[in-house]
Amino acid sequence: MPATAVVGLQWGDEGKGKIVDYLAERFDAVARFNGGSNAGHTIVVGGEKLAFHLLPSGAIRRKKLIVGNGVVVDLEVLLKEIDDLESRGLHPDLVVSDRAHVTLRLHRLRDAWEERRRGSDAVGTTLRGISPTFADRAARVGIRMGDLLDKDAFRRAASLLEGWNQALASGVYHEDGPSVTRDSLERAASAADGLERVVGDASSAACDVLDCGGSLLLEGAQGFFLDIDFGTYPYVTASHTTSAYAAAGLGIPPQSIKNVIGVVKAYCTRVGSGPFVTETKGEAGDALRKKGDEYGTTTGRPRRVGWFDAVACRYAVRVSGVTSLALTKVDVLGGTKSIPICVAYRIDGSTVHVPPSRLTDLQRCEPVYEYCDGWPDLRPEEWREAAQRGLKGLPPGVRSYVKKIEDLSGAPVKLISYGFERNDLLELSP
Ligand code: GDP
Ligand code: IMO
Ligand code: MG
Repeated sequence: MPATAVVGLQWGDEGKGKIVDYLAERFDAVARFNGGSNAGHTIVVGGEKLAFHLLPSGAIRRKKLIVGNGVVVDLEVLLKEIDDLESRGLHPDLVVSDRAHVTLRLHRLRDAWEERRRGSDAVGTTLRGISPTFADRAARVGIRMGDLLDKDAFRRAASLLEGWNQALASGVYHEDGPSVTRDSLERAASAADGLERVVGDASSAACDVLDCGGSLLLEGAQGFFLDIDFGTYPYVTASHTTSAYAAAGLGIPPQSIKNVIGVVKAYCTRVGSGPFVTETKGEAGDALRKKGDEYGTTTGRPRRVGWFDAVACRYAVRVSGVTSLALTKVDVLGGTKSIPICVAYRIDGSTVHVPPSRLTDLQRCEPVYEYCDGWPDLRPEEWREAAQRGLKGLPPGVRSYVKKIEDLSGAPVKLISYGFERNDLLELSP
């Protein structure tokens, strides 16, 4: 059976958790393949809000859960999310890759120290220790989940990390290296006991699902423009967020991924620093933030908001091989009379249709807008009633907005989300 990947195409928080939870019902297993606990994926079921940072959002559908080698695993978050599920009577059938790197307290501290060192150039990270963990992986001084289960392997890995962390702590950040390192490693060693039953070969677990004719849903974290290469570098996260990384970050053959669902909000948001061509400030921006409840799931920070950027979306669709789009939060734009949509950028007197790679160019880009007719501000029951009649039941403004996004991005919209509740979603037939 082929695998399906769900990836964000903007700057994260597109509503991936809701889409994954909805689709998970028809899959055998759900896997994470990138990022770490910087992710915050929200699901709302019967008014109850749940947020997953590390475990896949298929957790409450009682599906097999896999956390791949491409994810950095904060032990405290992992154990808490397992405990939370257990306390709800959901005993997760979980495999966490023995190759996944471990995020320790020392990584969270280094994240904060590095942000402080950068001063006005700070990235605005989630402070979850993501970049330091990936940096240690690349520097080949990291501790992997499998190391936690073997005393000799742990001792060897810990001594490499210890030397490196102390050099950074005292040499670069002028902080107390030894006590932080010791405390972090002690915490890791004591967490090991609870991990034996979940740590294993996640690649084999995922391949076994596929080889037995099962289906696999791959849950991306973050969004395309936070990718370490394709994002707005250096204002990006530390891992890859493209669909291609689903194969590398889980250990499955790339050709097993037949469908790629790109999730986009009907407008854009971004948390943290970095260029944002369609950003809308002032009253219009504040109103959109309030209506969309745009505050971070992981950090609670207010999200920056702006209009839909079709230049960015088209680029992401192309690179990630998106086969269909899931468009979320159309309800939030209800009541906006005329909705701007960015169809090109203007830079130094030229019009461009591809986002420039250089930060200094991107910062100078001005959006070229076309304007779409809006639609009424419907109540949740009114959206549900309208959606019962399929696409033709939705307000004409929504239908032409969807068509415009399809034309500009080059991918068909197959899912339209019009509320935060699990089933507030219209699936369009092919
Ligand atoms: P993720 O990181 O991509 O999973 O997205 P987040 O969970 O961080 O943020 C998306 C927010 O929008 C969450 O609070 C969701 O409950 C909410 N949400 C998702 N889809 C919709 C929708 O169609 N309408 C509204 N109003 N809220 C939505
Ligand atoms: P989900 O999966 C939105 C952003 C941070 C910061 C930059 C780098 O919920 O969509 P990091 O902590 O990764 O080093 O921060 O990336 N960022 C996210 N923004 N949603 C996310 O995840 C994010 N994960 C990281 O705000 O700008
Ligand atoms: Mg989020």
